[in-house]
Amino acid sequence: MDKKIAILPGDGIGKEIMESAIRVIETIAADFNHQFTFEEHAIGGQAIDQYNDPLPEATVQACEVADAVLLGAVGGEKWDSLPGDKRPEKGLLGIRKTLGLFANLRPIKGFDPLLHASPLKEEVIKGSDILIIRELTGGLYFGEPKKRVDDGNAAVDTLYYTRMEMERIIDTAFQTARTRKKQLTSVDKANVLESSRLWREVVEEKSKQYPDVTVNHLLVDAAAMKLIASPQQFDVIVTENLFGDILSDEASVLTGSLGMLPSASIRSDGVGLYEPVHGSAPDIAGKGIANPLGMILSAALMLRQSFGMEKEADEIERAVQKSLDQGYHTPDLNIKNGTIVGTKEMTDLVINNLSSNEASNCICNSYV
Ligand code: IPM
Ligand code: MG
Repeated sequence: MDKKIAILPGDGIGKEIMESAIRVIETIAADFNHQFTFEEHAIGGQAIDQYNDPLPEATVQACEVADAVLLGAVGGEKWDSLPGDKRPEKGLLGIRKTLGLFANLRPIKGFDPLLHASPLKEEVIKGSDILIIRELTGGLYFGEPKKRVDDGNAAVDTLYYTRMEMERIIDTAFQTARTRKKQLTSVDKANVLESSRLWREVVEEKSKQYPDVTVNHLLVDAAAMKLIASPQQFDVIVTENLFGDILSDEASVLTGSLGMLPSASIRSDGVGLYEPVHGSAPDIAGKGIANPLGMILSAALMLRQSFGMEKEADEIERAVQKSLDQGYHTPDLNIKNGTIVGTKEMTDLVINNLSSNEASNCICNSYV
């Protein structure tokens, strides 16, 4: 298969982890006879420095014609004092919105060797396998007005959702739940927010079309508590933009490190942008110690979701699992008796654990 991938490394550790993902994808391309073309473009702080714009037009155009987009991370202290619409994050929000990527899929599944790296008890998290589906192009992130008022002494953000925006994300959630354990938890704040009351109505209406899926509603505060008190009870969670942002960082605690989590932002035709859930971690940028696994697993999601390359995606996930089983990890993970390696070494391990390289070329011993 021939595929064109837009590459947006962004800021901080973005560049390092993107190099890792590209090396892994190139190995997969060679093994499975695919042709991938990579085209790199600027976004976020890097784009502000080069073009005075967090989302240059050339980047948007390249993403629009690509088969999928891979993104590293954006942001950093250097740009923190810029006004809201000039910040690096504006580039990320802009590309999500422009491409219409309304569904953000964040799978949270623990890897066994990392269970004890979580501050939560092993028996609480073992076996948990959650998919958070976050609405990504509406709500407080985008509602207007969004500005300072009263001579700058007050500020307003707007929580606005249309029924259509709710219906499409809720449909995605029901359809996805059907491919898993058929349990959907809808998270809202219907005891306080009008938008949540409409959301709940839409979930109830839609549930009639999916009688095989069991639905329950949780208020976001209770969901935050249950997510770490008894994560095994969840299968698919669907929620609006801001709640999804917060709950997915919270849920990362189950996996031992935010550095492990991939995400897919997609729309109905399968076009997607794939990025790790973590940020740009400027404090460790350039040190060669960033965890590349969230980015590598995002590349695997891209192969599966956007290109239908199920076997290839499984192969990457298996190689990541094997590298962790062998006891290797980057310093963000607090693993007993493991061997700490850097970004490049962790990537070498994953590549060596892809089946084509497994027998011939194991460099694993050089790290012990
Ligand atoms: C995320 C991030 C972004 C968000 C930031 C960087 C704008 O936290 O993808 O979860 O809030 O959506
Ligand atoms: Mg976030």
